[in-house]
Amino acid sequence: MSAGYPPVDVLVVGDANPDLLLTGDTVPRFGQAEQLLDSADLLLGGSAAIVACGLARLGMRTALAAVVGDDQFGAFVRDRLREAGVDDTAVATDPAVPTGLSVVLSEPGDRAILTLPGTIPSLTPEAVLAAVATLRPRHVHIASYFLQPGLAAQLPALLDDLAAQGITASIDTNWDPAEDWNGLADVLSRVAVFLPNREEALAIGSAVLGHPVTDLGVAASGLSALGCRVVVKAGADGGIAFDDGEESATAPGLVVEVSDTTGAGDSFDAGYLAAMLTGVATEEERLRWAAAAGSLSVRGRGGTGAQATAAELRAALG
Ligand SMILES: Nc1ncnc2c1ncn2[C@@H]1O[C@H](COP(=O)(O)OP(=O)(O)O)[C@@H](O)[C@H]1O
Ligand SMILES: [Mg+2]
Repeated sequence: MSAGYPPVDVLVVGDANPDLLLTGDTVPRFGQAEQLLDSADLLLGGSAAIVACGLARLGMRTALAAVVGDDQFGAFVRDRLREAGVDDTAVATDPAVPTGLSVVLSEPGDRAILTLPGTIPSLTPEAVLAAVATLRPRHVHIASYFLQPGLAAQLPALLDDLAAQGITASIDTNWDPAEDWNGLADVLSRVAVFLPNREEALAIGSAVLGHPVTDLGVAASGLSALGCRVVVKAGADGGIAFDDGEESATAPGLVVEVSDTTGAGDSFDAGYLAAMLTGVATEEERLRWAAAAGSLSVRGRGGTGAQATAAELRAALG
């Protein structure tokens, strides 16, 4: 029954876990070495959780569908989601599996991530459809495709079901730990928006087009020919959109003091989706929202530490 719950704007689907974010002398040296760090922060992570918090901070009614374990890390995830104003009624607890965890070794220009998947692959299409029935979102955003092979295999059918209900969808696959990048053609032809970073766009473009592609424009325009808008995240350079096989808009990032870029792409996704669902009319303006939301997030540590409110975003855009 859906009665009793007001509908949400966005249901975000995917991963939620704590990120232990370490800075300083983070490149490990074995041989029983002990290295000293500059900072250690336990923060809410997981691409889906960071997108959900970013959307809520921008004033969108947002819910998350995910699975956590019955443990301290699971309780941590729920507490942070509630603090951020994200509806967690579709966050299930699996008592048999530990909550996922990522250890992020953060350097000024780069990062390495060690991830225990834990409950991250446990989310099922049935659970997503049940959440859709209860929460009645206008839009569903799918995060971290490659960390959820069970969901990934049934995603085309799930997206057809959403489309039949008049619900739009977007996807940010994030990185493929296996670096195979396979299976996405049937997904990208069924979503409105695909939001990769440059490296992901090249890898997925090569897989879908069937030959190695080193030119971002070739990869992203080729992917957009499948029928989705491709919005590429380009680090400090901002974002570039591709529609129907052609570049359609760009927007630069903001010049900010960079503290940590973990989750910047997820805050970019939140800015883009908030603009789209708020009815921002031009693609260039939607990209400006996205790039500003990404850039403002890198001012603080972790994905959720410095996400912008709608007022902060408007002020930054001038
Ligand atoms: N050094 C930076 N300075 C300003 N903005 C940045 C910087 N790095 C990232 N961003 C912002 O975050 C967005 C996403 O970052 P990017 O690194 O491209 O994605 P991902 O985190 O998915 O790899 C960029 O489009 C930009 O808006
Ligand atoms: Mg990303």
